[in-house]
Amino acid sequence: MSLLKGIILHGGHGTRLRPLTHTGPKQLLPIANKPMSQYCIESLKEAGITDIAIIIGGLGANKVQEYYDNGEKFGVKLTYIVQDNPKGIAHAVRLCKDFVGDEKFVVFLGDNILKRNISDYVKDFQQSDSEAIILLCEVDNPTQFGIADVKDGVIKKIMEKPKSPPTNLAVTGIYFLTPVIFDIIDRLKPSLRGELEITDSLQMFLDEGHKITYHTVTDYWKDTGTPHDIIHANEVILKDMKPYFYGKKEDGAIIEGNVMVGENTTIKSGAKVVGPVIIGKNCMISPDSYVGPNTSVGDDSNLAKCNIEDSIIMTGCTIDCDIKIRKSIISSNSEIIYKKENGDKKIFLLGEGSKISL
Ligand code: DAU
Repeated sequence: MSLLKGIILHGGHGTRLRPLTHTGPKQLLPIANKPMSQYCIESLKEAGITDIAIIIGGLGANKVQEYYDNGEKFGVKLTYIVQDNPKGIAHAVRLCKDFVGDEKFVVFLGDNILKRNISDYVKDFQQSDSEAIILLCEVDNPTQFGIADVKDGVIKKIMEKPKSPPTNLAVTGIYFLTPVIFDIIDRLKPSLRGELEITDSLQMFLDEGHKITYHTVTDYWKDTGTPHDIIHANEVILKDMKPYFYGKKEDGAIIEGNVMVGENTTIKSGAKVVGPVIIGKNCMISPDSYVGPNTSVGDDSNLAKCNIEDSIIMTGCTIDCDIKIRKSIISSNSEIIYKKENGDKKIFLLGEGSKISL
């Protein structure tokens, strides 16, 4: 059986996640201290797919190449393909025709998190006569996704974000495809939002008599479209992580629950960390700090005084303030500091589109 190739979509504008995406692509935003697209790479690799193309484009595309380089560190071989403008998922897939050649392939949207290993799906696809396999997942908000109308185990229709969804079965962003799709995309017209939709190409697939089957995902799947989705994915991933501790814990520091702590990080006497929590390398967690459940703290951060739960603090942050921080995402190199001399005056230096809830 020949080895499948993989494609990861890492382009797009990430507008719904501004201001977090002003400085780079959304797929590099960290979940449990790891860029979300790294989960896609690991998922493909686990299934034996190591020849992978990454579609890049838009703001900070160079950061993707800087982080993943040729893929060697991640045990895969990466090819970068540039998409000049985000003209749609199908458009991005079409750019991979030469990369794919004549083989079956797997497309993974770089902002989709799937907890389950995809190896079984890949094996099934390799043995199957289906020309495409999609993964469906029940959702509460079906108007936000591609939706499949399914009757008696057969896909009848696939549509993009319908106003009156016939089912709540979302088409997830993991597609098992054959090169037949390229010819179909060549004949596709842009949708009302001006994109070549993958769902429209799948519908054309059905209309032209090609066989599409599906699996239903019952484990965790998330399209991390909003800050709330990212915080939720962070919580789910942290819950399942195996604890480790490479840092230093002073006597009198309290650590409870599953905690992952990187090298050269110190949890000072008087600090309290209640897992699941991940803290990166080279961090200082000082005596008046409380880092509570479902929180990720990136490398090189300094928590001098804090009370945090359900949040993502990226790298190089300083927090020295005893306000309760909840369900927050704080980008790299941010500072939240209480200064006595400011009295009750609050001083902000915020980037475009920042959000503060006091
Ligand atoms: O997550 C599943 C959903 O993804 C599906 O249910 C929908 O059918 C599918 O259209 C898509 O919907 P979204 O509206 O969430 O797609 P979004 O524009 O967020 O793009 C998905 C990913 O693909 C994201 O990581 C950015 C990347 N992308 C997107 C476009 C339009 C590209 O790399 N290039 C593009 O041109």
